[in-house]
Amino acid sequence: MKKYALILCSFSFFSCEKDKVPTPVVVGPPCTISDTVSFQNEVFPIISNYCISCHSYPGSGGVNLDSYANIQSFALSDQLYPTLLHNPNGIIMPPLPAIGLDSCEVKSIKKWIDQGALNN
Ligand code: HEC
Repeated sequence: MKKYALILCSFSFFSCEKDKVPTPVVVGPPCTISDTVSFQNEVFPIISNYCISCHSYPGSGGVNLDSYANIQSFALSDQLYPTLLHNPNGIIMPPLPAIGLDSCEVKSIKKWIDQGALNN
């Protein structure tokens, strides 16, 4: 257990004050994140799994995440990644009480965005 707590606390976005965190990002299995994260094989399946039920056209809140172009535009304007972090002061997606992405999935998406949010 100690090891997991350490892993959790090592995320800079993760507060260790439990009472302030509504649902922590779930620690996933040990991660192997591809050198180049693929939109088709990695990112889109995650978005499909967690987001498309509400965000296909026209999409809850007017947010449509069913195509590469739309996802890329939210990703590059920094509106996508922050929602995944379960920051109690921010917008949390998928909305509570749904369980969000695990830490591995969050890291993959972050890396894909850092690599330019390519259609690869
Ligand atoms: C159960 C339905 C539901 C699911 C699942 C869901 N969302 Fe949302 N989302 C909403 C609703 C409703 C809004 C608009 C209201 C709000 O901002 O809370 C919204 C708003 C947003 C916004 C706009 C936030 C802003 O800045 O105003 C983004 C970006 C977003 N969602 C991304 C995602 C992502 C990424 C996922 C998957 C990880 C996801 N959503 C899953 C319902 C959902």
